[in-house]
Amino acid sequence: MLTTSLATLPLDNPVLSASGTFGSGWEGRQFSDLGHVGGLVSKTVTRAPRHGNPPPRIWETPSGMLNSIGLENKGVDYFLAETLPRMKQLAASGRKDGKHGPRVVINIGGESIDDFVHMAERFCQAGVDLLEVNLSCPNVQEGKLLFSTDPRMTERAVAAVKKVANVPVFAKLSPNVTDIVAIAKGAEQGGADGITAINTLIGMAVDWRKRRPILGKVIGGLSGPAIKPVALRMVWQIAAAVRLPIMAVGGVRSADDVLEFVCAGASAVQVGTAMFTDPGLMARIVDDLRQRLGAERTSIRELRGVLHHAAENAAGGCAR
Ligand code: SIN
Repeated sequence: MLTTSLATLPLDNPVLSASGTFGSGWEGRQFSDLGHVGGLVSKTVTRAPRHGNPPPRIWETPSGMLNSIGLENKGVDYFLAETLPRMKQLAASGRKDGKHGPRVVINIGGESIDDFVHMAERFCQAGVDLLEVNLSCPNVQEGKLLFSTDPRMTERAVAAVKKVANVPVFAKLSPNVTDIVAIAKGAEQGGADGITAINTLIGMAVDWRKRRPILGKVIGGLSGPAIKPVALRMVWQIAAAVRLPIMAVGGVRSADDVLEFVCAGASAVQVGTAMFTDPGLMARIVDDLRQRLGAERTSIRELRGVLHHAAENAAGGCAR
């Protein structure tokens, strides 16, 4: 009922953490049994350590949150030595009674294609379940074009990672573009196994009394329920245009939110900003999903993309 898959990777259920909102999972392990969630997605890991952006880096907004972390992390060497073994320990805790346990998804960031390739090689050698390529952080790359604002750059970055990867590769896309479908098609051309949509929307906050922007780097990425309608629309558009599985992310707080994304075409859904205030939420969403699907006698696989099937039927049964 709850099972799903991300390309060749089967999952016990469609609920994963969103990168950057739950550490590696280890930090949140006392709040719920993480053995029951579908997957854990790491904070973006980069080749070299990064100190991140000047504070303030987080700001609560109505129905959302702005962040300007700047990919702070201790770099790939530290991650492989200290963090990955903990993620694997959490994954192993869920591998019983025929379950796969939470899948280990590593989100990798880079300033160049060479960086992405290096990171992909290191993590594939170390053994992970899936790579999420962060082509879309709005808080770095000072003035340089984000990979995921250009279809050809997206294609090149994905193709380079795919050459060295032995696990499914998902491209995490930015919503800060005119045409997300063109970028998703670029990822598909590059051989991506799937798409993660969406990263944060660029925003800002102002303290007018101090006559200053609030975030240390002025602009940041907006996440949380405020962006859910945008994420739903983009997931729906991508699902209509490419044949890749989609991991949806954007404002999820409940099992109902997850099912909305599944109907729009997502194979799995990441929970992010809501876990800052409710770190046990993911496991509860899994329980609620079981109850909702049981009550309707349906499954994730049956619901996935139903909005598109309805549209096809209305259009006379044309295949997508
Ligand atoms: C950040 O670390 O600045 C956020 C990461 C992202 O939006 O990709």
